[in-house]
Amino acid sequence: MTDDGAPSAAELALAAGGHLDLVTAPFTMPRSRLLVFREGDGVRVHTSEYERGLDECRVLDALEVLDGAGRVLPVVDVQPHRISFGSVTLTFDGLRALSIGGDPSASMLLALPDGAESRHAIGPGLRIDVAADRGALVSAQPAPAHEYALAALEREWGAWFDRCPRVREDLQDMAAFCWWVLGANIVELPALEGARAIVPSKIGYVGLWQWDAYFIAVGLRHGDPELAREQLELAFRFPRENGQLPDVVHEQGVLATSDDLPESDRATLRRAGSQVADPSAPVPLTKPPLAAWALRKVLEAEDAPEWAADQLERVIRSQDWWFAGPERNGSDLDRDGLPEYGHPYSSGLDDSPVFDGPIPTTAPDLAAYLVQQDREIAALAARYLPCHDTAPHLARAERTAALLMERLWDPAERRFIARGPGSGDHASGHDGERIASDTVVGLMPLRVEGLPQDARAALLAAIDDPERYALEWGLPTVSASDPDFSPERMWRGPIWINTSALIAEGLDTAGQPERARALREQTVRLVIHGGGPHEYFNPRTGLKAERATTAFAWSAALFLDLAVELSR
Ligand code: GLC
Repeated sequence: MTDDGAPSAAELALAAGGHLDLVTAPFTMPRSRLLVFREGDGVRVHTSEYERGLDECRVLDALEVLDGAGRVLPVVDVQPHRISFGSVTLTFDGLRALSIGGDPSASMLLALPDGAESRHAIGPGLRIDVAADRGALVSAQPAPAHEYALAALEREWGAWFDRCPRVREDLQDMAAFCWWVLGANIVELPALEGARAIVPSKIGYVGLWQWDAYFIAVGLRHGDPELAREQLELAFRFPRENGQLPDVVHEQGVLATSDDLPESDRATLRRAGSQVADPSAPVPLTKPPLAAWALRKVLEAEDAPEWAADQLERVIRSQDWWFAGPERNGSDLDRDGLPEYGHPYSSGLDDSPVFDGPIPTTAPDLAAYLVQQDREIAALAARYLPCHDTAPHLARAERTAALLMERLWDPAERRFIARGPGSGDHASGHDGERIASDTVVGLMPLRVEGLPQDARAALLAAIDDPERYALEWGLPTVSASDPDFSPERMWRGPIWINTSALIAEGLDTAGQPERARALREQTVRLVIHGGGPHEYFNPRTGLKAERATTAFAWSAALFLDLAVELSR
C-alpha cells in the first residue's frame, strides 16, 4: 500500500501475476516478440508475427527443468517478471533471449521444432537466445547475470505498474491484469524507427489496427497519455492520397485496400461465401470513423495543442474521404450524401449478418459515427485549428442526421435498418434493399445528439428488452430474437466490450445516466466473471466464446476506461 491507501506498483504486479496462467496469458515483456506458454510441466516458446498463426511461429517446443536428482520441477508461480519452477526461475534477458538460473545443480531439457533435443546443466546461469530462423542458442553466464536480468525485468514492469490507474477496490485486481495486457501487447515496429505499437493481441493480431488503436488509446490515456498519443499518431500516419486511413499499419507496410489482404484472409472470405473475396477492382479498407472521438478523449487526459492540430488535419481529411464519391475512390459510392461501407472489414464488424448480402452497405452505425465525427471535428477545430471553417462540418452533420432518419429509420418496425447496394436515385425508389437483421449496428444512432424522441424511445426499449438486447451478461451484438443470433460466433451475437462501451455513451447522450452506469457495471462484471479481457464473450454464459482470442488489448483498455469512470 502507498501512503494514500492505493495499492503500490509491486502489489499491482503481483495481482496481475495471479492471472498469468500461461494459457490465456503467456509470459512476455513489453516490446519483445517472444511468448512463453505452458507445455506439460514445462513451457514452450513462440514468436508473434503479423498474419502468421501461433503454430507457425513455434521456436521452442518444450523447456523442462529438472532438479539435481533428475526430478521434473513444474511451474509453481508466474509473475510479470519471472516464471518460477521452485528453486529455478526463468526471465527475459533483453527482448530476444531468456535467462534461466537459481539452482546450480538443476538442469534444463530443450526440445526444438526440428526434433532436436538437448540437456544443459544450469550451473551459475544460462542465456537462451531464441530466434525464429535460428532455433535456440544456449550459452553459460556468470552467476550475477541471471540476478541482473531478473532485477531489470522487475524494474521495467514496476515502472509500468506505477502508471496503472488506481480504481475502485473491487475492480483493482482486474484493472491490474488489464494494464499488464496493454504493456504485454507492446510490439516494436522496426520499420518505423522503433515505434511502440500496442497490438490487439500478440497471440492473434500482430499489427496496429485502426479502430483498435482508438480504443486502446482511450484506456491507456489514464496511465500513459504519451503512449496513447503514440498509438493515434501511428494510426493516422499513413493516409492514402485521398485521405483514407488504412485498416492496419504493420511491419511490412499498411493494409489499405483489398489488394493488400494476405491470401489466408481472402481464403476465409471465400469460405464464408463473401461477395467481396475477389473484387474486380481494389476496395478501400479502413475502420469506422471514431478517430475524432478518440483524439478528443486522449487530449482530455493531457493537452498537447501542436500535436493535436497535426492529427486533427489528418482526421478531417479522412472524414472528407468518407463523403467523397467513387471518382475520388471515396466511400459515398452512390453519391447520395450518405456514405457506405464498401467492405465488411471497414465496419469493424466483419462477419455481422448485416454483411451477408451484397455490398456496399448503407448502415446506421456508420451514419451515426459520421454525424458525431463532424461535430467532434468542429469542436476540436475551434480549439486547435482556429483558421479552419467549422460551419461546413456542422452543416454536414445536420444533413447526415436527416438522411439517417429518412433512409434508415423504419417507422413500422420502429428500428434502424441497413440497406444493400442502391442507385442513389432515391426519388425513383432505388433505395437499396432493406436488410432486416436486428443488430447492434442499429442501436448506434443512440449516440447522435438530437435524435428524434420517437427513435430514441424505441432504441431504449430495445436495449431494455430481455428478448432482444437485455441478456443476463450484457448487450449482444445481434438481437437474441434475430434468426442469425449465435451466442458463439464473433459478431453474430457475442458481447464485445467496445460496442457495449459505445452504447453506454449513447445512453448518456440520450439522457439516461443511470442506465449508462448500469451497462458499464454489467460490462466490467462480465470481464471479471469471464476471467479476463477476452476478445468477445458468450452472452448466455458470460464466459469467453470458444474461438475468441485472449489478452485482447481493446477489451483491456476499455475495462480500464469503464473502471476509471465507475470509480469517480
Ligand atoms: C477483427 C475484428 C476487427 C478488429 C480486428 C483486430 O477483424 O472484427 O474489428 O479491428 O479483428 O482486432
